[in-house]
Amino acid sequence: MEKIRNFCIIAHIDHGKSTLADRMLELTGTVDKRLMKDQMLDQMDLERERGITIKLQPARMSWQGHILNLIDTPGHVDFSYEVSRSLAAVEGAILLVDASQGIEAQTLANLYLAIEQGLTIIPVINKIDLPAADIPTTQQEIIKLLGCQEEDIFLTSAKTGQGVIEVLEAIVQKVPSPSSTLEEAQALVFDSGYDEFKGVVIYVRVFGGQIKKGDKIRFVATVKDTEVLDLGYFKPQMVKADILSNGEIGYLITGVKDLEKAKVGDTVVAVDSQTPARPGYKKIKPMVYAGIFSKEGDDYNRLREAILKLKLSDASLIFEPTHSQALGFGFRCGFLGLLHLEIFQERLKREFNLDLVVTTPTVAYKVYLRNGKMVDLTSPLEMPDPSGIDYIEEPYMQIEVVTPQQYMGALMDYILQQKAVLKNTEFLDQSRVVITYHLPLAGILVDFYDNLKSISSGYASLNYDFADYRPCELVRMDILVAEHPVEALSTLVYKDQAHQVGRKIVEKLKEVLPKAQFVLKLQAAVGGKIVAAERLSALRKDVTAKLYGGDVTRKRKLLEKQKKGKKRMAQQAQVDIPPEAYLAVLRR
Ligand code: GTP
Repeated sequence: MEKIRNFCIIAHIDHGKSTLADRMLELTGTVDKRLMKDQMLDQMDLERERGITIKLQPARMSWQGHILNLIDTPGHVDFSYEVSRSLAAVEGAILLVDASQGIEAQTLANLYLAIEQGLTIIPVINKIDLPAADIPTTQQEIIKLLGCQEEDIFLTSAKTGQGVIEVLEAIVQKVPSPSSTLEEAQALVFDSGYDEFKGVVIYVRVFGGQIKKGDKIRFVATVKDTEVLDLGYFKPQMVKADILSNGEIGYLITGVKDLEKAKVGDTVVAVDSQTPARPGYKKIKPMVYAGIFSKEGDDYNRLREAILKLKLSDASLIFEPTHSQALGFGFRCGFLGLLHLEIFQERLKREFNLDLVVTTPTVAYKVYLRNGKMVDLTSPLEMPDPSGIDYIEEPYMQIEVVTPQQYMGALMDYILQQKAVLKNTEFLDQSRVVITYHLPLAGILVDFYDNLKSISSGYASLNYDFADYRPCELVRMDILVAEHPVEALSTLVYKDQAHQVGRKIVEKLKEVLPKAQFVLKLQAAVGGKIVAAERLSALRKDVTAKLYGGDVTRKRKLLEKQKKGKKRMAQQAQVDIPPEAYLAVLRR
């Protein structure tokens, strides 16, 4: 055990985490240089293409008689729970900072998590080969944060390999070996995945005893008993082994066929043992919901199969069948955040070739009823009758924005428009600031990140984390076309914004709906009261064209008849709303 070093890399997207991991795999001879592809650990096509790590990936390396276990963690905040579990599986962390960018918001958040967990931090400044590298400023930032000395900070170019050997040596010298003396088997599940051939793969860090093939084990949180059918470690591909011992990181294949039973954060122990669970298991709940439909309604079955398949490797996704008047049969899905939704959508499109309609995402509200019950509200259609509602709460987030000082004013103006409350501002160095806010999740769901980027010319970075639930005045707004409510267009809005949002929707509808034979009333209503209205004029048909001169009363009669007919049509109308019109409104 004293030869083992378990560590992870904390870095912002693009600061070079995967490239550094590649160099380490190469220098330690773990992966043959000829077989080396860029970003070995980013295994999904989507990950390689976008240059982001979505799924974490461990790798075992041998170095000067030591075993180094690296866990490559996803950098994005949607997956921060996975990051916190990976941190719980190691003793050390490399803090990797791009010399031309400095420390970013998400890195800060993860660094604080690592410090809280008592990990040994090895600061590394990367991309020193870049002409734009500003090593002294980056050093100052790190020194201010960690209170370390300049000589404790390593300088690397993951691209050329410069300085990487020194980092490997520092891991051996500075990161402590695992220290648990527990004799009974105990392992932390820090991730799980699905393999075409092996089924559910459980990623574990052993904290006590050992685990062998044939062992009867229990998942403590889900109280699921099963048997170890196979086990091994990652190199980064799966390599079979006979045993996983205390301090090691590896995988288990068990009798568990359902990812739900092997949750991240759970503890594996021997069946019937009294060994306690590792601390910190947390049930994660989706934060963002959206409806997913296939554009061609008859693709429902293909969509269903695709979702079931993706669910196999994505325990945090939840979904249930739903039906919409406008969009047909589909699924209401819950996600950890927007990136999660985006990735899911992208995978459905690419891997299953599906043409999708995705509705505007919404957050999960808590509705407290007068009868003392609480219901989770994720769709406008499920809004209980207002007379039975005591109050409603919405999720609030804590966000940190790191930005160069010159954009601070404009960013603050924009963020305050989202019902945000300023908590703190702090300088990272002479020119960069961290601003902390509390604000409703609903305010950052659509376009928030893009707007931050455009206001700051791309320089601002964002981290967000769930803070708490707070009361809000929420109402359901219905949209009526020709006085008939259109279910798919109902939305949940803040009471004080109902008028404004309603106005936007009816105006948009007016633009996109085709004209009918009669005047179409377009209305937004809250609790039966119209808050905004528009009229779409009728197609004109000259019913008097066939008359040659003659009697005025005849002409008037014809016009009267047309008017009556239009009125009757308008009353009886079932206006067909084309899918493009729905989309224009749903994705506003
Ligand atoms: P995520 O997977 O999204 O977290 O990003 P990452 O931190 O893994 O970054 P990645 O390794 O994908 O590197 C991002 C980009 O920076 C790639 O184009 C790399 O080739 C480049 N890069 C990484 N390290 C260096 C370096 O030391 N010097 C230079 N010039 N480029 C580097």
